[in-house]
This record gives sequence, C-alpha cells and structure tokens, in this order.
Amino acid sequence: MREKILELLNKKDFVSGENLAMQLNVSRTAIWKQIKILRNYSYNIESVKKRGYRLVSRPDIPRFEEMSAYLNTKIIGKEIIYLENIDSTNIFAKKLAKDGISEGCVIIAGKQKKGRGRKNRTWSSPEGGLWFSIILYPRIHPQNAMIITMVASISIIEAITKRINSKSVVIKWPNDILVGGKKICGILTEFDAEMDRINFVVIGIGINVNNELKNELNDIATSFKIETDMKYSIVELLADILNNFDKNYNYIKIGKLSYIKDSWLKYANIIGKNIKVIYENAFLYGEVINVDNDGSLLIKTKEGEKRIICGDITYL
Ligand code: BTN
Repeated sequence: MREKILELLNKKDFVSGENLAMQLNVSRTAIWKQIKILRNYSYNIESVKKRGYRLVSRPDIPRFEEMSAYLNTKIIGKEIIYLENIDSTNIFAKKLAKDGISEGCVIIAGKQKKGRGRKNRTWSSPEGGLWFSIILYPRIHPQNAMIITMVASISIIEAITKRINSKSVVIKWPNDILVGGKKICGILTEFDAEMDRINFVVIGIGINVNNELKNELNDIATSFKIETDMKYSIVELLADILNNFDKNYNYIKIGKLSYIKDSWLKYANIIGKNIKVIYENAFLYGEVINVDNDGSLLIKTKEGEKRIICGDITYL
C-alpha cells in the first residue's frame, strides 16, 4: 500500500486523503497511518488542511517502498529487508535462508557492526556504502557454485562502468572489483550444500560508494566518491545491480553457464597473464592458462600445471 501511496503522491501536487483512500479502497485513517510510517522512513510529506498531502522529498534509502519503482525483475528483490544497523547482512541472510525465505530476497544494511570479508577478515562498512546480501536456491552442482559469484561480479561491473570510466574497472580473481588497481567492491559468497545439491547460497556484496575509507585502506581501496568526486544514489545503483543480476541469473536457470563465464573472462582479462599466487603461507609463480567452471585457476608453472582454488594473486 505504501508503494501505491508514493506513486500517487509522486505527481508533486497535493492529493487529498479522501482521494488516496478512494483509489486504494481503504479508510482515510488507514492512509494517515501509512503516511506516518513513511515520515518515519524519512519521506518528507507535507500535509495542508483541505488540500491533502504532498511529497516534498524522498530519502535515498533502499527500502522496498523506494526500490520497487526502479526494479524490473522476475526473482531478485521481490522481497527486500532494509536494516539501519546490523552485525552482518550475510549472517542475517543465512538465518533467513535456513528458514526458507523466498528466492531473491535481498537484505541491505545502512551500516554493519561486524561486516565480514573473505578468509575471516573484517569488512569496514560505515554509513554511505552499499552493503547487501542476496539469497538464492540455485539448482546447480556445488562444484559450480562459483558461477553464482561470477553472476554477481558481472552484474556489479555492468553497473559500475555506467558511472565510472570503464577502462580502469576490472574483475580481479577471484571476485574483487578494482578501479585503477584499487578495490571498490568485494564479494563474500557463502553456501550450505550436500554432496550433490546446494541448499542455499548467500552472496554478500560490499561496495564503497559515498562512504569514507579508513586511513589504512587508502593505498588498496577506493570508492565512487574518491574516483569521481560525486555523490551517488544508493537506490539507483542497487536497482541497477539487481536488474542486471536478475537478467544474468536467468542464464544459469536456462543452463547457459558458458555465457556467464565468457563475460566474466572478458572483464577479468586474466588468461595469459603472469601472476604470483599467495595461498596458505606459500606462494608460486605462473601463467594463467584457464579458469574452470568451479572458478579455480589453471596455471602453468616451472613444475607443471597447477590448479589454484583459493588465494590472493598479484599480476607481474
Ligand atoms: C571481501 O573480502 O572482499 C568480501 C567482502 C564482502 C563484504 C560484504 S558487505 C555485505 C555482506 N555482509 C558481510 O558481512 N559481508 C558482505
């Protein structure tokens, strides 16, 4: 009902409570209650006796009420949970997934107290950034789960390159997104699986948008704000990513995994590159010859071909 009220108020003119009530087929008291909730959600709604309500400004907060107007999806974002402050959207999403919440549900946080990164690292998540998780139940073999992270990477990079000079934006294996060599986005995919089936996947995405970065991250991380000196709409950026995600996830649903892998390879541009891989306190050098469907790197080293499942890489 709140989305409908916002749609009707969007014309910028006053709309009477009676008119709203009639169009929504509810009482004027019901309308007034919803207006109160919207004001609590930071919508600035003016009310003038005998004229009604007028929408003065909308907040850039990705609640369902705000997102729904921008979304054009079949699965992703049909349910959206926005929380101002939470420990970690991934932790919250995993609980919801265990209870079987609908596929495509998105959990977003204004800030996270205990944002988590890969390899148990912490992920700084202050206000102004985009911190969210998507819940999926893909019917693919657990070995191919990495393809879901690839869907996320290409959906995000498509949205980033619409806003930032595309030449400097790349995917760095396994799934960081860098601008000019510095990290702007990280992805933490967690899943619950049996031998041959995935029960659920939670894809956690952290993007530095309008947020400040901690001093110690200055050399390795960047943000939309640093790159362009502009403030971006979190709602529009997230909607873009979710629309892309819905489209790209459909390729998996129809079995076109190779389409996803090929676009990922295009953005990662890693084949033929000489790299150093650091993993479990050891390192090795080699040339990347392929990326498998499970996301592992095949590299040619002096000692022969090696498969790298996880680790951190640097280009030489
Ligand atoms: C990485 O280490 O590169 C992955 C970072 C992932 C951060 C995101 S922010 C939203 C979601 N919730 C978390 O606790 N982590 C992920």
